[in-house]
Amino acid sequence: MSVHSEIKKVTTESLRKMKFDKEKITMLTAYDYTTARMVDAGGVDSILVGDSAANVMAGHETTLPITLDQMIYHTQCVVRGVDRALIVADLPFGTYQSNPEKALESAVRMMKEGGAHAIKIEGGVEIEKSIRRIVNAGIPVMAHLGLTPQSIYQFGTYKVRAKEDQEAQKLLSDAKLVEELGCFALVLEKIPADLAAKVSESISIPTIGIGAGPHCDGQVLVYQDMVGMNQGFSPKFLRRYLDLYSQITGAVSQFVTDVKSAEFPNEKESY
Ligand code: KIV
Repeated sequence: MSVHSEIKKVTTESLRKMKFDKEKITMLTAYDYTTARMVDAGGVDSILVGDSAANVMAGHETTLPITLDQMIYHTQCVVRGVDRALIVADLPFGTYQSNPEKALESAVRMMKEGGAHAIKIEGGVEIEKSIRRIVNAGIPVMAHLGLTPQSIYQFGTYKVRAKEDQEAQKLLSDAKLVEELGCFALVLEKIPADLAAKVSESISIPTIGIGAGPHCDGQVLVYQDMVGMNQGFSPKFLRRYLDLYSQITGAVSQFVTDVKSAEFPNEKESY
């Protein structure tokens, strides 16, 4: 028996059970093989190949420019590095909103070519038909409500969403709808903690929060933010577990000094 077959893989059913057992769910992003290996080895339950790759990997201002081909490439890289975690991949902007057939086609490509275990899409009632079509094809769907970055030009700001009653009511009704449509989990981004608590109590599928307070069934962060690689991004919800930006720039600067001074490589480091 290979080592791989001894590892108990996380499934959508495992996440459902974790909510039932009141065990918090952990999720981090990864966009490449090396990071995916470390994140999986650290014991995270799920890895999100987020379209935040557009920002973090490609340096775009928004998530809008990333393509389905690029997301499939990132997903393939992550899949090769993961033994245990459930891999969820974002469908990028413009690949599922226009009609359910296109949505299904995009989701199928992500599963078949990318190797994802599930897909994530942003929105509620507006994309009801797309969600229904993808779920009916047997593809697990994670929904995403609140601050949905693919709608940033409509919002005009990255501030907290659903503070007003009307938007909060719509979010609650969208959450119930995505559960009814068969989504297996729901990301809640940047909404008041009380609302996230209410949503989490009202639905049976797990909620995974980012900037949505402590009452969600799980938490997700962007890996590069969590390990402190991105110094310019400091929202209130972010907890940094490392200061890798300083450590990496320090190491690079030391390498430059060592090479310039002919201190590296030394005799022991030569053949
Ligand atoms: O793309 C992403 O990283 C996300 C998370 C912020 C939830 O959607």
